[in-house]
Amino acid sequence: MDAALNQTARALVAPGKGILAADESGGTIKKRFDSIGCESTEDRRRAYREMLFTTPGAAEYVSGVILFDETIRQNASDGRPLAKILESQGIIPGIKVDKGAVPLAKSPDELVTDGLDGLRTRLVEYRDLGARFAKWRAVITIGAHIPSRLCLDVNAHALARYAALCQEEGIVPIVEPEVLMDGDHSLERCYQVTSDTLHRVFDELYDQRVELGGMLLKPNMVLPGKGHPSYPVAPEIVADATISCFRTVVPAAVPGIVFLSGGQGDEEATANLNAMNAKGPHPWQLSFSYGRALQAAALKAWKGDDANVSAGRAAYVHRTRMNSLARSGAYTPEAEKAAS
Ligand code: 13P
Repeated sequence: MDAALNQTARALVAPGKGILAADESGGTIKKRFDSIGCESTEDRRRAYREMLFTTPGAAEYVSGVILFDETIRQNASDGRPLAKILESQGIIPGIKVDKGAVPLAKSPDELVTDGLDGLRTRLVEYRDLGARFAKWRAVITIGAHIPSRLCLDVNAHALARYAALCQEEGIVPIVEPEVLMDGDHSLERCYQVTSDTLHRVFDELYDQRVELGGMLLKPNMVLPGKGHPSYPVAPEIVADATISCFRTVVPAAVPGIVFLSGGQGDEEATANLNAMNAKGPHPWQLSFSYGRALQAAALKAWKGDDANVSAGRAAYVHRTRMNSLARSGAYTPEAEKAAS
């Protein structure tokens, strides 16, 4: 096993810590900024991310940050690269390397992720810019007759090609097959689709010689669709379904599972992770790699205005601390209230 890859993967899921996904593409960050009435200019995007990355105390709870291509090239207001600012606090910089999901040929209601062309060269450049891990997101949609076998196959194949290329360049791949929570499907259907997806993904990872000890898995939790009458279900139920699904398909050699939040509420995502860890120990570390569930409150407090930086930081560090507590099953409603 590659010791350096394994060491980085384990550092990303160190006890009490998890990952901030701050790798929103140009289109996604514009949507987020629209929600607070802030124009998405390069300066505002830099200011927002600088606020998060320089939040005092956050490094105690955050092991790594996933950056977007623009951000890994940006400097903070003091002239230092944002990636260096993370590193100086012991936070590992990572990079989103996929180029987004596009309609799948011959199955237009499904998506396949682009970005393999030229990836080897881009990885070398990103490594020189400080990235020690990477992310590639595949999107699986649940519908009446989907996902198709075709969709699972092509996405699993691309995830494994990406992961193998990363490992060759000394970069830890985060393998993210996201089964969307959009729709009115049941928890049982999500369980089945998540299980099928992960089976295909681990088959491909094995075939393409990806070292499981040098990667992390970033999946959805097993939940009913947002439009299903039972949504949201109790954290206990989510925890039991998710752990049971993953125990049958995720090899113990994988150091950690870092969940995405996927549209869950902030406190919901924390409570669900907490319920899983309360049932530990598990074969893998169970942690977070949240985007929206770590950023929504901070974004709302900041409102695009430099005068609100301390309010934005307070909201951000609070969410990171709550999720840190959820890493060991120690999150409580009292802790949630105490700081807010
Ligand atoms: P969410 O937590 O907002 O789903 O984002 C995580 C992520 O990185 C999706 O690719």
